[in-house]
Amino acid sequence: MRPARVILNAKSPLINTPAWVALLEHFERIEKVHMVELFDQDPERFKKYSIQFNDMLLDYSKNRVTDVTMKLLFSLAEQAGVEKWRDKMFSGEKINNTEGRAVLHTALRNRSGKPVFVDDENVMPLVDAELEKMRDFSDKVRNGQWIGYAGLPITNVVNIGIGGSDLGPNMVCRALEPYSHKSLRVHFVSNVDGSHIGQMLSYLRPETTLFIVASKTFTTQETLTNANTAKKWFLEGAGRVTEGDIAKHFVAVSTNEKEVEKFGIDPVNMFRFWDWVGGRYSLWSAVGLASAIYVGMDNFIEMLEGAHEMDNHFQEQPLDQNIPVILAMLGIWYGNFFHAESSAVLPYDHNLRMLPAYLEQADMESNGKSVDREGRQATYSTGKIIWGAEGINGQHAFYQLLHQGTRLIPTDFIASIQSHGNHKEHCDILASNFLAQTEALMKGRTMEKTREQLKEADIELHKAEKRLPHMIFSGNQPSNSIVIKKLTPKALGSLLAMYEHKIFVQGIVWNLNSYDQWGVELGKKLAKNILEELEDGENLYEHDSSTLGLLDWFRKNSAD
Ligand code: F6P
Repeated sequence: MRPARVILNAKSPLINTPAWVALLEHFERIEKVHMVELFDQDPERFKKYSIQFNDMLLDYSKNRVTDVTMKLLFSLAEQAGVEKWRDKMFSGEKINNTEGRAVLHTALRNRSGKPVFVDDENVMPLVDAELEKMRDFSDKVRNGQWIGYAGLPITNVVNIGIGGSDLGPNMVCRALEPYSHKSLRVHFVSNVDGSHIGQMLSYLRPETTLFIVASKTFTTQETLTNANTAKKWFLEGAGRVTEGDIAKHFVAVSTNEKEVEKFGIDPVNMFRFWDWVGGRYSLWSAVGLASAIYVGMDNFIEMLEGAHEMDNHFQEQPLDQNIPVILAMLGIWYGNFFHAESSAVLPYDHNLRMLPAYLEQADMESNGKSVDREGRQATYSTGKIIWGAEGINGQHAFYQLLHQGTRLIPTDFIASIQSHGNHKEHCDILASNFLAQTEALMKGRTMEKTREQLKEADIELHKAEKRLPHMIFSGNQPSNSIVIKKLTPKALGSLLAMYEHKIFVQGIVWNLNSYDQWGVELGKKLAKNILEELEDGENLYEHDSSTLGLLDWFRKNSAD
């Protein structure tokens, strides 16, 4: 664990709790046990360590755990009060303690008809009204009733946002591509690098383009800069247009009506969400507007339903049958006891190719904290590094390190059995690789087996012996297999909610507030100062010699 530069006097007590101490003792006994032995000892292992949820199967049998491990992990979850905190979250208590906010992305997909209260107000009528507004608008854009200033229907939708206001809807659009409107294109602009918006605008026409400016705060510099550039492009490209025409091509999604108006978007064209929805949990809200337009509101609602079903599972199942809890506790087992630094997400479904990037924000912005809820130093590691790439491509890139590197990297292998691609041969090749990889990671290949295979390949003895050490696989690399029947909107909703709740459980065990993100502030503040210095051409603030040297280098090279 990285030592914190400022160690606070008060230390979080987690590592001295009975459940933690018991796990540490147990770890010493199990650390060297190979999973091959565990499978040999127990023919029921798959049956015991797999759970079905609707069309989804979680197989967690290829983990370095026994019944005792799981029992101890569940008692850690219990001791941390996971169930109590879960109930607090769902009932609208302000569990985001540093910002004094409730955490209610679950209310956005509450399909139960039951009320949800924040400060004694039932928020469900607000949620439902916004969904209706999204339906009305997305239907109009989809069926060509939403007409631009030149009398033409919309053909291209550009979502301008960043972080949670980009990654969620962007990932959903990619994931649900097979459900998309065939003559509508959706684009996402996030980076403030002018190349991003510049390249995009170069192939769009103002008369058929709709911009969605999505920002929870509506103060994010990158988003507003891109939105202003888009507005300028629209006004210049469109020629003689009135303010009323802007309303036909710009809508906003935000919690901040004042800033939306200030930017020049009529509040009538504003879709709302609320401060109890965290940015990285906002794809279920109007932030999902681009995806709702792309795949249609019925599919969007189906996605909400899938998430709601996972919410019910999370609320109702006992800890040892609870998929998000199981995944969370396995993550803690590897992160805190085996000291695994990272965890890879490997979707064997081309349409889930953006899932790793989406989960990077969801997980690392939530649990990348070193101070607990009470402001005490966490003396244990917290959020793991999340990374990954779509399944089979990764095999030809970084899997070498997973198989033979020196690090323990637990993995989530995700597969859809029925591809939307409709090519049986492709499907089988993909599935066989998915299955083979988790088996290879678990079993490895012993020296004896490797020698045997080299012999069979008729390789000269002295050459074979030289090659031998390089061809041994130690195995014992843990993986979860998450298999869904087909990537439908409903399955996607369940999958995403599963990960959200996994992140929640880990945050509770580590005693963190997973719903603030103060860690992004410092860089933003310094960037503001440096921008002033770049514009003024003068050094106005104190910097280290590296930053000063770089600043100077930027200035010298900024113009040819
Ligand atoms: O800088 C981090 C962050 O605040 C994220 O949490 C958020 O998703 C992103 O910026 C965008 O914020 P906004 O939606 O307010 O523009």
